[in-house]
Amino acid sequence: MASESLSSPRQILVTSALPYANGPLHLGHLLEAIQTDIWVRFQQQRGHNCVYVCADDAHGTPIMLRAEQMGITPEQLIADIQADHQRDLKAFHIAHDNYYTTHSDETRELAQSIYQRLKANNHIAVRSIVQAFDPEKQLFLSDRYIKGTCPKCKTADQYGDNCEACGHTYAPTDLIDPISVLSGATPIEKESEHYFFKLPEFTELLKDWTRSGRLQDQIANKLSEWLDSGLQEWDISRDAPYFGFEIPDAPGKYFYVWLDAPIGYMGSHANLLSRTGGDFNEYWGKESNAELYHFIGKDIINFHCLFWPAVLHSAGYRLPSGVFVHGFLTVNGTKMSKSRGTFIKAATYLECLQADYLRYYFAAKLGSGVDDIDLNLEDFLQRVNSDLVGKVVNIASRCAGFISKRFDGTLSEQCSEPALLGEFIAASDDIAALFEAREYSKAIRAIMSLADRANQYIDSHKPWELAKDPANAQQVHDVCSTGINLFRLLIAYLKPVIPETAAKAEAFLNLELAWPRAGCELTGHKINKFKPLITRIEQAQIDKMVDASKENNEQPTAPATSATARLENEDVSESNEITIDDFFKVDLRVARVIEADHVEGADKLLQLKLDVGDHTRTVFSGIKSAYAPEDLVDKLVVVVANLKPRKMRFGTSEGMVLAAAGDDGGDEVWIVQTPGAVPGMKVT
Ligand code: 2FM
Ligand code: ZN
Repeated sequence: MASESLSSPRQILVTSALPYANGPLHLGHLLEAIQTDIWVRFQQQRGHNCVYVCADDAHGTPIMLRAEQMGITPEQLIADIQADHQRDLKAFHIAHDNYYTTHSDETRELAQSIYQRLKANNHIAVRSIVQAFDPEKQLFLSDRYIKGTCPKCKTADQYGDNCEACGHTYAPTDLIDPISVLSGATPIEKESEHYFFKLPEFTELLKDWTRSGRLQDQIANKLSEWLDSGLQEWDISRDAPYFGFEIPDAPGKYFYVWLDAPIGYMGSHANLLSRTGGDFNEYWGKESNAELYHFIGKDIINFHCLFWPAVLHSAGYRLPSGVFVHGFLTVNGTKMSKSRGTFIKAATYLECLQADYLRYYFAAKLGSGVDDIDLNLEDFLQRVNSDLVGKVVNIASRCAGFISKRFDGTLSEQCSEPALLGEFIAASDDIAALFEAREYSKAIRAIMSLADRANQYIDSHKPWELAKDPANAQQVHDVCSTGINLFRLLIAYLKPVIPETAAKAEAFLNLELAWPRAGCELTGHKINKFKPLITRIEQAQIDKMVDASKENNEQPTAPATSATARLENEDVSESNEITIDDFFKVDLRVARVIEADHVEGADKLLQLKLDVGDHTRTVFSGIKSAYAPEDLVDKLVVVVANLKPRKMRFGTSEGMVLAAAGDDGGDEVWIVQTPGAVPGMKVT
């Protein structure tokens, strides 16, 4: 890490991970944005040239499919989501120098030129691979888009890579009765040519880089395990249809979203430089003296600490100076949950609470490690109220009135307590070192212990008692002026953390808060009338936020990414949620079972002939484990009548009979019956 020297400002470029443009930001995203923003603001306050860029991660299959689902173009979808992201980030005072998109000319040109360099260096291999393919959607399917019955414990409805019931991992081809999550069709196997980045050739470089003190120990250790067990070539291509950048000279082949995502850091920076001027190579060239840091979550270290440095190296660019990894966010001790109302979107939070509260709380919890951070809502309220309102702002509110009413808003010409003030200023280097090392919780502890000292000082001098006797006027002036000076130093230290409150304090103090240094006492200075800088959090605000976040109170929105953090790869972020509008598209009808038969060769299926009022239709239903065919005849069931007919191995199924799993999660299945209704009747 570069050493501190204010006489020669450091040139620093900082990024945080690019949020996917397929859903709203939630507090998990904010944890990282706030951690990064505090660090950037701290560097800037110290006089360094620190630039912060970010962007939306706009490519990949889930974005393409979501746009299709919504009946809009991917370009429209990513533009809408980017606008929402920028609105939320701004409201949380995340001060990017540039917020862009990976779907940009800059990122396209950089991705293509980087690829050409990798290819010229013989770091690209081309070979055919066989993958699951959805014959209806005409799309290759990653594991997450395939579901079926677990080959081990036979639990139905499991994803293509592992079973949530028994934990068994397998290949999608091992699933019993696999189906494509996208169309319900049975996947077929299909071969196609893929482009691979020869990652193993960089093993030695990566061993050196990961052990060069640029990474947290836990991360370096994890990477060592991966490096020692041998790296695989990295598949960087995807077949059309895909929303992304086409690979040069490879029609129908696109860069995998994770190839161009980190290049998006460069693209956003290049876009910034095109407006502000400046030399891209001063930051990204091999000889660069600038520092480059990426803030990321622990789920994406392989992309940032293996693939990315290797790609940069092959393409002739510098490597990052550091990758700063944080843990996931939990709320009230567990994964964020929609049913508990703890899956909190950035916008929902902002409707109920101020940004600075959360910024302060995250800072009070964040260290330099990769442990998960818990937002305990009760602790959040208490901590913010007692520290920010009760300790810090209270100092100003106890002193300001006397200064403005009795001394014309002007601070005393002398400091009555130089030793105490000196103590506050002397803490500057230690607090700076803690911010620099991302030990924010320790920095906050140090600042709050100074705040305790300031309150003790005021308590012991009791200006409100002194003021009762006009003979004490000078003492009142001195004590309150000292109080305001102490307040000013505390807010200066907290400025990177609570910028909105600090800006209000600057208006009150009538000055800009620089990082404290020796000899900066304020004497004879005119201040403005004090207005409350921050109000207490009320329990009702938190209740409102939790209520508004509960699943059944949600307005239909595009599903967010993972509950606790961004997800490991693009494919996982596809959720199975449907909106209320989707739900209304489902035509539920009452039907009478006219015939029910076993299906030759099928373990689970029964073939049903249904009377749907004005016509009959055939449906294959997986309820054999629970019903003998004769038990079903004449029963009135509910059927999804507008389901696209689906070709199965045994024939075409023209709908789906609704059924529910029994309590034990085993083979028990209850068909949803509608006694007394009439076939063809609509179920609403
Ligand atoms: O995990 C995610 O949410 C990714 N969109 C992060 C990309 S970071 C970078 F590489 F662009
Ligand atoms: Zn299983």
